[in-house]
Amino acid sequence: MKRLMVCCVLVIALCKTVAAEEGMWIPMLIEQLNIKQMQDIGLKLSAEDIYSVNRSSLKDAIVQFGGGCTAEIISPEGLILTNHHCGYGAIQRQSSLEHDYLTNGFWATSHDEELPCPGLTVTLLIRMEEVTEKALQGVTGSMNQMQRGQLVKQNIEKIEKEATAGTGYEAKVRPFYYGNQYYLFVNEVFRDVRLVGAPPSSIGKFGGDTDNWMWPRHTGDFSLFRIYTDKDNKGAAYSKDNVPYRPKYFLPVSLKGYQKKDFTFVFGYPGTTREYLTSYAIDLTTNIENPLRIDLRKKKLDIINAAMESDQLVKIQYSAKAAGIANFWKKMIGESRGIKRLNGLAKKQAFEQKFQCWTDSLSLTMQRYGGLLRSFEATYREYRATDIASIYLTEAGQGIELVRFAAGFRELVKYSKAKPIKPDLVASSIKSLQRTTREFFRNYSAAVDKQLMSAMLGAMLTGMDPKSTPDIFAFIAKKYAGNADTYAAYVFGHTLLADSSTVLVFLADYKPSMVKNLEKDPAFNLAVSIYQCNENNVLPKAMVFNAVTDSLQRTYMQGQMEMQRDKRFYPDANSTLRIAYGQVNDYCPADAVTYNFFTTLGGVIQKEDPAIYDYTVDPKLKFLYLNRDFGPYCDRDSTMHVAFTASNHTTGGNSGSPVLNAEGQLIGINFDRNWEGTMSDMMYDPSQCRNIALDIRYCLFIIDKMAGAKWLIAEMNIVR
Ligand code: ARG
Ligand code: GLU
Repeated sequence: MKRLMVCCVLVIALCKTVAAEEGMWIPMLIEQLNIKQMQDIGLKLSAEDIYSVNRSSLKDAIVQFGGGCTAEIISPEGLILTNHHCGYGAIQRQSSLEHDYLTNGFWATSHDEELPCPGLTVTLLIRMEEVTEKALQGVTGSMNQMQRGQLVKQNIEKIEKEATAGTGYEAKVRPFYYGNQYYLFVNEVFRDVRLVGAPPSSIGKFGGDTDNWMWPRHTGDFSLFRIYTDKDNKGAAYSKDNVPYRPKYFLPVSLKGYQKKDFTFVFGYPGTTREYLTSYAIDLTTNIENPLRIDLRKKKLDIINAAMESDQLVKIQYSAKAAGIANFWKKMIGESRGIKRLNGLAKKQAFEQKFQCWTDSLSLTMQRYGGLLRSFEATYREYRATDIASIYLTEAGQGIELVRFAAGFRELVKYSKAKPIKPDLVASSIKSLQRTTREFFRNYSAAVDKQLMSAMLGAMLTGMDPKSTPDIFAFIAKKYAGNADTYAAYVFGHTLLADSSTVLVFLADYKPSMVKNLEKDPAFNLAVSIYQCNENNVLPKAMVFNAVTDSLQRTYMQGQMEMQRDKRFYPDANSTLRIAYGQVNDYCPADAVTYNFFTTLGGVIQKEDPAIYDYTVDPKLKFLYLNRDFGPYCDRDSTMHVAFTASNHTTGGNSGSPVLNAEGQLIGINFDRNWEGTMSDMMYDPSQCRNIALDIRYCLFIIDKMAGAKWLIAEMNIVR
């Protein structure tokens, strides 16, 4: 009894409301949950100013950019601002050796010069609504996860259909709190988005992967695009007759800067967080998954970076790929370290003890939640080996570019061998392969990929449990004595799939009788073996694991909410629109060390190193610096601020999000987090977690003074 009481006191102590900084809140609910606290710490707006369906509000200026980032509308003519790294793919696709916009930057001087970006879309939220009851209609406690999932899926399809009938909008219903709640989002999708401006990489990617995820930071990480619509101001496919979008609202841009402890908030599309998981999940991610992925990615990066350094074409071809691999690689390093430093595992375990104590205190809670943690433990323990195999197969095996490309021919083989043969399926498969072939070889170096194959297969041969390797490993062991290098040399020496012209000639003349050429192709066989191993041995188990943990996690979430009745909960990020708020602030990364909350152009010059590509400084930028030619964009301390840190809780997907001041004016563009704080996807620490924003004044300075694009500044509403 005494133990129980100690337990309960601890439970109550745990129920303090969360710190102001933690949380990614639902815009529709801030009136109810947050506005008072936001105003208490400085916000000067009402909840209606931020999110309203009845009148124009801040939300009408926030868009999801290309699926993975955020952007904001900053002019009455649909001009949007996002990060350089968010526009990177689009800028890269427009680049060639002759027009190297990645290296040199790009600036349209009029609407006519703005470059269409096929495939790039921007999504604007029209409204949201809670639809839990409708989504769960007919769901009963006795249903298993499959039956429940099936029914919820049907319900959701119906809700989405009804929500958009006759509107031209698109709708999405998303689970929140692990399926305890559901929300509907009605969106307008814009498909004609054009590149307006991007700084050279020496500004937009200054510091490269060395500085990525780090503070102090000096990256001018921004790019500009414009939304085009049809004549009725509606989202439409690209047409040269389309016109610039006239938004319901666009953000005013502030030249006023910020002080330490100033209120700020971030409005955007955070992708994924996992704040309510168990210690078993944290253990798996930080101690097993992250270290393995980090190791495999390091091997890839060593190869790609060396090749990029010695060959300018490879540099263009692999820059976006390398950035993608490096980004998550470094994030995982920071995340595992951060959890360790926070004692994250022990904290979760302590919480679980209290949870167990709480469940065991009443027969009702015991019945509902008593066995939950034991089920989690068993489920994660059982899945561990499969998880490791899955990482080897996808990160290493499918990390070989030729393997991914060759796997695309499986369909053609299937159709060619069907009885009777369906000529139209064969023809359409050829057509789509011709398209992927052209796309694939634009950014491909067989020499680089051959090294990747050696390294990745080498890692699989030494690291994988022999029981879970692809079948072809028996052949590699027998014929090549398990030597990945000689095997890779054989594959590249004999495949017809590693060279663009050979593949295109093969496809142009293809007849189903030629299927044997594919079936004896070594790259094709390797790909089939790796993909089949994943599909047959891993995916079925992963599906069961996901279904079981989904269901456990839903119950656990419900239990956590029931136990901590006074706590304000925010749902994990799920790529829907959220608000995070906090303060401009510095932090102490180590004993006796404090990092100031802003950086300046002087810091760019300090970091300059002409011998290192990522630290070269454009002579014009240096000239402006030396002449202190900052125009109206310098701070009142008379320096040119470049970036700043604040305690807004953000994650991947928040890149490009506006960082706003108390009056809802744009003061920065979110582009990163500090390395010490990257564990905030699983556990937020107010003393260490900071978002990193580009100072909007640096962005304007580059547009105005470096690019001379005054016509863009003139479009904006600049407040002084
Ligand atoms: N870390 C930032 C984010 O997660 C920036 C990534 C792009 N930059 C890079 N060097 N890879 O997206
Ligand atoms: N750079 C990230 C993005 O692309 C934002 C940084 C983060 O993960 O917080 O969304």
